[in-house]
Amino acid sequence: MAAMTAMPQHDDLTTRAYYDKLGDAEWHRLTRDLPGRVSFEVHRRFLSRFVQPGQRVLEVGAGPGRFTTELAALGARIVVTDFSPVQLELNRDYVGNTPAEESVESRELLDVRDTSRYADGEFDLVVVYGGPLSYAFERTDEALKGLLRITATDGGVVASVMSMLGTWRHHLASVVDLAAQVGEDANDAVIRTGDLRHIGAEHACQMFRAREVEQLVVRCGGRVITASASNWASLGNPAALEQLESDPERWRRFLEHEVSACAEPGALDGGTHLLFAARSVKAG
Ligand SMILES: C[S@@+](CC[C@H](N)C(=O)[O-])C[C@H]1O[C@@H](n2cnc3c(N)ncnc32)[C@H](O)[C@@H]1O
Repeated sequence: MAAMTAMPQHDDLTTRAYYDKLGDAEWHRLTRDLPGRVSFEVHRRFLSRFVQPGQRVLEVGAGPGRFTTELAALGARIVVTDFSPVQLELNRDYVGNTPAEESVESRELLDVRDTSRYADGEFDLVVVYGGPLSYAFERTDEALKGLLRITATDGGVVASVMSMLGTWRHHLASVVDLAAQVGEDANDAVIRTGDLRHIGAEHACQMFRAREVEQLVVRCGGRVITASASNWASLGNPAALEQLESDPERWRRFLEHEVSACAEPGALDGGTHLLFAARSVKAG
């Protein structure tokens, strides 16, 4: 039988305070190191498969705007939202003085768990990149049902959440150190449930296995159209990867291989994030 551990307190304000405090560092997350740059490229290419010029898109948890800029370049009209006032303001700072700003319809504070202010089917696409659904915890089903409700029948939800198995593999050394501090029972609970609240981390989130994403989408009345890991071959071997990145032609080829490897069913659990596109079953 699995050992029981008491769940440390984590109220709704903890994640918001984390992102308010993180501030500008979030802008650099997808550029400062090689796994981040590959993750950005995988997310960017995945998104481009679902966006058509002229579509009206709700961006949830937009942060400082890496994907706001991408959506604008793809010709979307964007309602930019986040539940952190600091991140929303950073979005205004980073996107506001660029041509992408013309594609921004509005900026609103929004918690992914409550999209009741929007009408059924009012968006062609909803983009939830970088984990808002990983911070919804007990209200994850309610959140995803809401996102599917506000999406047009021929549209969809494009999301990424934190990956349990890929994160564990990539951060094994830190996990081993942390388990020694918080206890092996708490560590077991995290690996079993994906819920980082078991270790009382400041940055607590829900990590998912690929099969749990599939189950979540089905429970919420949707179906997964396609999925991808965020990284497959790009989380280790920094020297080899730096060598590749320094040669544009070899890097281009590597990224092609990496993006298709990430979409293999056997790779889905291998990255730090899991990307998926889902559509309401009612949409057919
Ligand atoms: C890791 S950042 C991702 C930013 C951007 N989407 C990207 O992928 O680069 C996560 C963002 O989600 C926001 N967020 C976290 N929980 C949320 C919630 N419950 N509702 C809406 N946004 C949330 C945070 O404030 C933060 O800006």
